[in-house]
Amino acid sequence: MESLHTTDVIVIGSGISGLMTAISLYPRKVTLISKKKLGEASSSAWAQGGIAAAIGNDDSPKIHFEDTIKASSGLSDEKIVKIITDEAASIIKFLEEKGVDFDKDHLKNFLMSQEAAHTRRRVLKVNGDSSGKEIIKTLINNIQKLENITILEDVTIDEIITENNNVIGLIGRHIGKNIVDNFTFFKAPNVVLATGGLGSIYEHTTNPRDIYGEGIAMAARAGAILSDMEFVQFHPTGMDIGLDPTPLLTEALRGDGAKLVDENDNQFMKLVHPSGDLAPRDIVARELQKLKDLGHSTFLDCRKFSEKQLQTLFPSAYNFLKKANIDFTKEKIPVTPVAHYHMGGVLVDENGKSSINGLWACGEVSSTGAHGANRLASNSLLEAFVFGKRIANSINSQVLNNIKDENINFKKYLPKERTSSRIRAKKYIWQLRNIMSDLVGVYRNEQKLKKAFIEIDRIEREAKDLSAKLKDMILVSRLITYSAYLRKESRGAHFRSDYPKSDNKFLFRKKITIIEMQDFLNKREYIEKVA
Ligand code: SIN
Repeated sequence: MESLHTTDVIVIGSGISGLMTAISLYPRKVTLISKKKLGEASSSAWAQGGIAAAIGNDDSPKIHFEDTIKASSGLSDEKIVKIITDEAASIIKFLEEKGVDFDKDHLKNFLMSQEAAHTRRRVLKVNGDSSGKEIIKTLINNIQKLENITILEDVTIDEIITENNNVIGLIGRHIGKNIVDNFTFFKAPNVVLATGGLGSIYEHTTNPRDIYGEGIAMAARAGAILSDMEFVQFHPTGMDIGLDPTPLLTEALRGDGAKLVDENDNQFMKLVHPSGDLAPRDIVARELQKLKDLGHSTFLDCRKFSEKQLQTLFPSAYNFLKKANIDFTKEKIPVTPVAHYHMGGVLVDENGKSSINGLWACGEVSSTGAHGANRLASNSLLEAFVFGKRIANSINSQVLNNIKDENINFKKYLPKERTSSRIRAKKYIWQLRNIMSDLVGVYRNEQKLKKAFIEIDRIEREAKDLSAKLKDMILVSRLITYSAYLRKESRGAHFRSDYPKSDNKFLFRKKITIIEMQDFLNKREYIEKVA
């Protein structure tokens, strides 16, 4: 059964990017699509960091700008970094007006945390390490009062429909219980992707398992230009306690004195970087991975905190530790690097517009140039707020072009295969995750990347009738592997053990399209060379 839904703007995703864009689009007619119930389907709801904003007396947007540029290993876009660091203070004001209750001391001064590669304490939080959850709650309260927004829950989007490089709509499905292949056509001249990152294509991730890069996959199939796909950020301190997804131990714990140690209590980061435990995230993650590969164990030592301190300052970490029966006042907490954030995605300009007219991208699904090769902690929520507002302002300033019904034959876009076995897909999804972690993870090299292409081909062949999710995951995995293969150097989060140094020849953001990648795959060079 198919139905048609018509609106001015569709926002796909209900994390901070989606909510912020939708709120800022008032009074446009907006449909906000959420894969689950509002508030349950995003990485941002799990964000333990906060919002980086240079509002301290010892700080300035210029210093924040410089820290961001330095962390990005030469690949960020200065214009974009300036925009986000300059607009941070106004975003904080906007959020306070909407009701966000940032943590403050008894004198009503903002409490600010320190995170890796920030030279100042500038991360604003809400209820300690529960910032994402709390901010989302407040934004949802605001959204529910806005009559211009229609909220559709339990809906997933499969394809973006374009004609002559213009968006005309989407194909989606209701995925509530007992509803199978219940396709809906969404007709709108503007679509905002706010679908989050792709952590779930890796074996261990801090992202919800529903976050596997579907926005990137859809945009790529529609012909959008992508950028920086090789840059996947691994967070060094995922709690290695057998939970999936992996709970995070926020960097702010190290900012407040928790220590990284090995099984003999050696503080190994002291020997690796002058900033020790607060060295840039990519450096810490690589060191941990190296130690693990050499057979060592790695821990975060939080024994300096009392029960009360941890419970008050880091309630999310506290609750996970309780759940795992770890007495952090006596034991060290096992940690491991985990896929956490993707710097690349759908290439957009300073207003969040992609290379397809009417297609916008906000937050982790996008590649604005704010993060370069290595994101500075807590800049991502800032980027999402700034770009949510900029996208909405751009759309609001347009005279919307209504799409004429007679021009659209939505039915021709329906997928030919409508069924697939979820059980079979699950087996291959896990194989793919293992391949991505082993071969396209923290340490990469040409042999590993070629093997990854071959293994992904095998999965595609063996899985046959691909579920929509597996199809997207395969495409996104290939796009990352392809970009990682092309970048024959190490920079930021992308480390090639066969090219361990940065090379100025590669000092540019690599832009790709699905067609270009397909040409490369068709040549099958990776097979001939491996043989
Ligand atoms: C953290 O708190 O360590 C993570 C924050 C972020 O990734 O921005």
